Amino acid sequence: MIGRLNHVAIATAELDQAAALYRDLLGAKVSAPQPLPEHGVTVVFVELSNTKIELLQPLGDASPIAAFLAKNPSGGMHHLCYEVDDIVTARDHLVAAGARVLGEIKTGAHGKPVLFLHPKDFAGTLIELEQA
Ligand code: CO
Repeated sequence: MIGRLNHVAIATAELDQAAALYRDLLGAKVSAPQPLPEHGVTVVFVELSNTKIELLQPLGDASPIAAFLAKNPSGGMHHLCYEVDDIVTARDHLVAAGARVLGEIKTGAHGKPVLFLHPKDFAGTLIELEQA
């Protein structure tokens, strides 16, 4: 069912530092910061030849990554995003199999439909599905 690894997301309290690390030390192509108020994060994309890294910093008081950073103050891997052909079909298949979907299908950072799956059902890893 899943296709390409669309991105690996890393949460950080220091977005500028993390972006500089990827741009200046690791020599990657790094986007300008994009505030996404509806998702409670500011995002920087790091473009790699085979996938992307999404650097996330909390935005606003109710950021969904605030609790993660409280537990992991120096930051860390937050989620993996896999591509699917049809997000509604994928969701219905997973729900029928007993997996827990977190919230509703939303429009993600790339303007495409996304859905999050509970880490306890996926080997301890928060999973995002994105309709490719
Ligand atoms: Co993501």
